[in-house]
Amino acid sequence: MNQIDPRERRPQRIAVLPGDGIGKDVTAEAVKVLEAAAGRFGLPLELVHLDWDADRYLRTGESMPAGALEDFRDNYSAVFIGAYGDPRVPDMKHAADILLGTRFGLDLYINFRPVKLYDERLCPLKGKTEKDVDFVVFRENTEGAYVGVGGVFKKGTPDEIAVQEEIHTRKGVERILRAAFDYAKKTGRKRVTMADKSNVMQHAHGLWQRCFAEVAADYPGVETEHLFVDALTMQMVKAPERFEVIVTNNMFGDIVTDLGAALQGGLGLAASANLHPGRTSMFEPVHGSAPKYAGTGRANPMGAVLSAGLMLEFLGHDAAADAVEQAVRQALREGETTVELGGKLTTSQVGDVLARVVAGG
Ligand code: IPM
Ligand code: MN
Repeated sequence: MNQIDPRERRPQRIAVLPGDGIGKDVTAEAVKVLEAAAGRFGLPLELVHLDWDADRYLRTGESMPAGALEDFRDNYSAVFIGAYGDPRVPDMKHAADILLGTRFGLDLYINFRPVKLYDERLCPLKGKTEKDVDFVVFRENTEGAYVGVGGVFKKGTPDEIAVQEEIHTRKGVERILRAAFDYAKKTGRKRVTMADKSNVMQHAHGLWQRCFAEVAADYPGVETEHLFVDALTMQMVKAPERFEVIVTNNMFGDIVTDLGAALQGGLGLAASANLHPGRTSMFEPVHGSAPKYAGTGRANPMGAVLSAGLMLEFLGHDAAADAVEQAVRQALREGETTVELGGKLTTSQVGDVLARVVAGG
């Protein structure tokens, strides 16, 4: 997935936004690991820490400074986000502005979410091994149900009407399908599965059907499969080994990647990359800010660390990215984990273990 020539921007500047809740806890560990990787492999990373969190939003009324997205676009190679969400901001305004704002504002149309079992003991399914759970979800990331088009009418009355539209454009659908096929071709994965609900959403998801057939014709070496999303979820549990690359719309991608995370051993292990090849991209663990666990040492930093690993890969540092993934595998194998995975370590102790392994010690 190398999208950027590592020589393109030196140093590679990375904006680090820990966010709220456990986002701060896990980001501290991801940073430790990044620094260890930078030291061992001589990476030209320049981390810029930005404290845009719920506190700042409540204090200033501003979720991110004016011009922030343009600054990311022009002056940064990547953005790393911990997690956003705070009970004092019930409408999630700052979270939406920062997270969805970055996805939409930087046009990061690929949400790349690997579903990979790193240790078979973590899989909730009987008899499945590492080779059975190893696929990637390409989630469309800039349209669908996430565009916020709609409104309410006669609010609070018995006649209230709520409308929220899904938006699917030919350009948007084609480019995510193409990204999935390109990835399959480049990595030798044999099949791309497209999931929609075109039996009910004839218009919106019918477009996906037509684009899928058209784009597939350009990739004769790649097999195609179509599943309705309900059938997809069933098959992900029954036979995850049949999947290599899954591509789907924004909302379905959100849902199926939580299911995918469970197949890997939990949300604490799931990583994601928000990409637009050739541009500043954004990396974040799939989990949320879990405010009740903030500062308790219980948050698993591995999802954040693996997201940092994806970032290294994307920035062209394959050996460092590999070292990060290997460190996670080793820690899992040796039971050096947080309590939800059966270990005895705190968030920061897991980070220390991973950083030490990545540093080569
Ligand atoms: C995710 C999250 C977000 C999403 C939320 C926090 C808006 O669930 O990244 O999967 O729905 O995309
Ligand atoms: Mn989600």
